Amino acid sequence: MATYLVTGANRGIGYEFCRQLQAHGETVIAVCRTADDALKALGVQVEESIDITSDDSLADLRDRLANRAIDVLINNAGIAKRVTLEDLNFDSI
Ligand SMILES: NC(=O)c1ccc[n+]([C@@H]2O[C@H](COP(=O)([O-])OP(=O)(O)OC[C@H]3O[C@@H](n4cnc5c(N)ncnc54)[C@H](OP(=O)(O)O)[C@@H]3O)[C@@H](O)[C@H]2O)c1
Repeated sequence: MATYLVTGANRGIGYEFCRQLQAHGETVIAVCRTADDALKALGVQVEESIDITSDDSLADLRDRLANRAIDVLINNAGIAKRVTLEDLNFDSI
């Protein structure tokens, strides 16, 4: 069994990762800005008030998880943009 950290965990694909990993018996750290009731009800460790675009927020998360080993990072938080591979903006990603 492994410890997974999932960003953007409160809805969409991130929430579904958390739900399925939890059901599979993995240890899940669910990171989000604000946790919905459904995420809170999963029984995973929830870390709220984390905006992944904020350095202060990420430093806060690092401090909260001090010395905690993470096996898998699923850095899912984000927004979908419709661009072609030729038009990818790596800074934006
Ligand atoms: N769905 C698709 O078909 C698809 C296809 C290709 C790629 N993706 C990628 O997969 C990821 C998830 O997609 P989704 O469909 O599940 O999207 P979604 O339903 O819009 O959920 C996005 C998640 O990211 C969080 N988020 C956005 N900006 C954030 C920030 N600055 N800090 C912290 N959390 C932030 C949102 O939190 P809040 O609830 O607080 O807003 C939400 O939990 C995205 O990166 C998307 O680009 C999705």
